[in-house]
Amino acid sequence: MGRERRRAVTSDGPAAAPRSKARAALDVPRETSIPVRSDVDVVLARQKGRELAAALGFGPTDLTLIATAISELTRNIVLYAKCGRIVLRGIEQDGKLGIVVVARDDGPGIPNVAAALQSGFSTSGGLGLGLPGVRRLTDEFDIVSEVGRGTTVTVKKWKQ
Ligand SMILES: Nc1ncnc2c1ncn2[C@@H]1O[C@H](COP(=O)(O)OP(=O)(O)OP(=O)(O)O)[C@@H](O)[C@H]1O
Ligand SMILES: [Mg+2]
Repeated sequence: MGRERRRAVTSDGPAAAPRSKARAALDVPRETSIPVRSDVDVVLARQKGRELAAALGFGPTDLTLIATAISELTRNIVLYAKCGRIVLRGIEQDGKLGIVVVARDDGPGIPNVAAALQSGFSTSGGLGLGLPGVRRLTDEFDIVSEVGRGTTVTVKKWKQ
């Protein structure tokens, strides 16, 4: 967490100059936190993620992939945990721009995370493609889940 935060954005305001292209691109809201309680929040989180990714300069294909990943993570929060939060953040590392999506809930947790990451595993009669899909669509994927405590999925996608 600290690592991302440190690299999150520039300390100079929009008026500071001169700035590199990368820095200019990061003059976007550095972090958006979206409470998730119902299906409408799935649409909202998806939209906000798309907006942030567009501001960071991601191309149309990546925008769709990022929006899809956010949808799946948010849908899982609504379905399994009822409520939680999506945090979106622009990051810069070694001159590369990227987006971090953190999906966090205090829900029931996942007893077997390895199984949940397999295509076709679902406890709700779903297709079981959400988490494996998110993993495939992103460059970095991390999941921490504890039964009775909740689940946090953190993904990063870098701009090519
Ligand atoms: N936030 C969460 N809290 C608790 N359990 C979860 C959470 N997210 C996923 N799971 C568990 O992991 C399983 C796999 O999730 P995944 O999103 O891959 O598939 P699905 O939601 O069952 O179906 P699909 O997403 O394809 O409609 C779920 O069935 C559920 O048991
Ligand atoms: Mg799902």
